[in-house]
Amino acid sequence: MGISVAIDGPAAAGKSTIAKKVAEIKGYTYIDTGAMYRAYTWHCLDRGLDCTNEEQCVAEIPHVNIELKPGGVVLCNGKDITREIRMPIINKNVTPVCQMKPVRLFLVDQQRKMAEKDNVIMDGRDIGTYVLPNAEVKIFQVASPECRAQRRYKENIEKGIPCTYEEILEDVNRRDKADSERAFAPLKPAEDSIHLDTSDMTIEEVVNKVIEIIDSKVK
Ligand code: DC
Repeated sequence: MGISVAIDGPAAAGKSTIAKKVAEIKGYTYIDTGAMYRAYTWHCLDRGLDCTNEEQCVAEIPHVNIELKPGGVVLCNGKDITREIRMPIINKNVTPVCQMKPVRLFLVDQQRKMAEKDNVIMDGRDIGTYVLPNAEVKIFQVASPECRAQRRYKENIEKGIPCTYEEILEDVNRRDKADSERAFAPLKPAEDSIHLDTSDMTIEEVVNKVIEIIDSKVK
């Protein structure tokens, strides 16, 4: 079992930006669990399924092979869908899909296996509470909804993904509510997590803070 760092928090809190940089500095493997739920959703849409239909979506489990490759590349059954999974249609449809318990169990099993092999930094919603309850380091990263929407808007525009700030703010609020209120493995801070509000911090400050936390916990 390697060292595990869990970073949970609401949508667009900058978890992946921070986790990626910290992973690089510490030499850990970064695992973006949100990308796995997005990839599963992409697959269901690609098959023409209704993402609110649990029976249909769950039946796809044996036909979905998701791989996270270095550099943030996401493959679904061998196809590179790195860009597709960031589109607004995925944001909308991932909410019902990630509430389906069999889908969660399927992906959680893979996430745990990845953490067995390597030192990992894993970000998501339920990592510290459910996926890796024994993680050496647990961080709950937050920022105000407006701040998160502003950051995500800027990021999307830079990536050429069409959107408006208002749309993103609405999506962030909607997903936070759904993620926190779902029955199985909802978004909530683990009791032993460290709360980190990044609203007024730069990326560099957050990265340094997370490294300081890891170094204080992992000798
Ligand atoms: O982190 P993200 O925005 O890329 O995640 C996409 C969706 O997946 C998010 O709306 C909630 C869900 N998710 C989840 O339920 N559990 C996780 N561990 C990670 C993401």
